Amino acid sequence: MIDPVSTPEIEVLRAAASRARERAHAPYSKYRVGAALRSRSGAIYVGCNVENATYGATICAERVAVSQMVVAGEADIDAVLVFTDEGPLGMPCGICRQSLVEFAGPECAVIVASPRDLRVTTLGALLPEPFTFRK
Ligand code: THU
Repeated sequence: MIDPVSTPEIEVLRAAASRARERAHAPYSKYRVGAALRSRSGAIYVGCNVENATYGATICAERVAVSQMVVAGEADIDAVLVFTDEGPLGMPCGICRQSLVEFAGPECAVIVASPRDLRVTTLGALLPEPFTFRK
């Protein structure tokens, strides 16, 4: 396992994602998601899902966090945590996996958590052999 995030680091990300989740705009699905990612500098960027009446214009929490990181001038993610409520852990969707690949390598920690559950995996495990222009 490459650079597993420590438990205190996970707790920082979990708290940030949980707070972000409170801002979710999810009047259609009622499924609220918070995401927190840690960039290589150690900064934490958060996002929540932002739904839209067209449905198709909905943005996932992970991609909101990625956008926050990019506008802050950063481009390297080393861990991301996705926080949902009780129920099955909310795995990042396919588009979000690809969006994370743009800024993270296969060793990037992906943590999915709910108030009582937690699973740690990697981006490489979730999206093997991704499309990229990187060598
Ligand atoms: N959602 C996320 O925020 N992240 C994901 O990786 C999967 C889905 C959101 C989008 C939508 O607002 C709601 O969850 C139901 O699909």
